Amino acid sequence: MKTPVYKRVLLKLSGEALQGRSSFGIDTDILRYIAGEVKDVHTLGVEIGVVIGGGNIFRGIEAEANGIDRTSADYMGMLATVINALALQNVLEKLSVPTRVQSAIEMKEIAEPYIKRKAVRHLEKGRVVIFAAGTGNPYFTTDTAASLRGVEIGAEVLLKATKVDGVYDRDPVAHKDAVFYQTIEYTEVLTKNLKVMDSTAISMCRDNDLPIVVFNYEKKGTVKAVICGERIGTFIGVRK
Ligand code: GTP
Repeated sequence: MKTPVYKRVLLKLSGEALQGRSSFGIDTDILRYIAGEVKDVHTLGVEIGVVIGGGNIFRGIEAEANGIDRTSADYMGMLATVINALALQNVLEKLSVPTRVQSAIEMKEIAEPYIKRKAVRHLEKGRVVIFAAGTGNPYFTTDTAASLRGVEIGAEVLLKATKVDGVYDRDPVAHKDAVFYQTIEYTEVLTKNLKVMDSTAISMCRDNDLPIVVFNYEKKGTVKAVICGERIGTFIGVRK
C-alpha cells in the first residue's frame, strides 16, 4: 500500500475544475470524481484543507472588464466560491467523508466563520476543511487564499490541481518546444513571470517555505500519487 509523505496538505481546486465539460456551473460527475480523489487521500489518514475557486460561476476579472467595479466583482467571485464549497461538502459527505466549511466572510446560517484554531482542530479530528470566500478581501485571488490558508494551518505542501501537467517555460499549446520544469524555485517563477499562480501567492509560499506541487488532476489517482511522493507535475520550492 502506498504511504503518504505528507501529513497535512492544502489542496487548491479551481472553480473551472468543477465545470467539467459544461460551459458554466457545476458538472456533478466531475464533482463526484474530485470528491472521490479527496476521499482516497483522506482514507490514507492525511489531513486535508481545500480552497476552491469560483470561476465556473463568476469571474471577477472579466466582470471588471465589463464595467463592474473590481471590489464588487471580487466579492461576487467570493460568493461563487461559497456555492462551490457547499457543493463539494455535500458530495464528500455522501461519500461518508466528514467535512466542515469555513467562510472568510461571515454567513453563519450557511457555514462556520473562518477560525484558524477551529480549522486545525477539525483537521486533527479527521475532517476535510473546505475554506470558502477566498481571503475575504478583494484584490486577492483564491490562489493567494490557498497559500494563506496553507501557511496558517501548517500544511506541508500546497497542491495546485490544474488542467496542465505542470509548469512550462512557455505555453505548451502554442509552443511545441516549451520546456517542462520538474522542479523550479519560487523566485524563478516570479522573475520569469510564469503564469502558474499570481505573484502574491508565490511570494507568500516562498516567504513561509511552503512548497507547491502543480499537477494535472484529470488522471484518476494523481492526487494520491503526489501525496505519496511520486514525482508528478512540477515541484515549486526547494527539495530537501
Ligand atoms: P467539535 O465540537 O470540536 O468536535 O466540532 P464540531 O464542528 O463537531 O462542533 P460544533 O458544535 O462546532 O459544530 C456542529 C456542526 O455545526 C458542524 O457541522 C459545524 O460545521 C456546524 N457549525 C458550527 N458553527 C457554525 C456556524 O457558525 N454556522 C453554521 N452554519 N454551522 C456551524
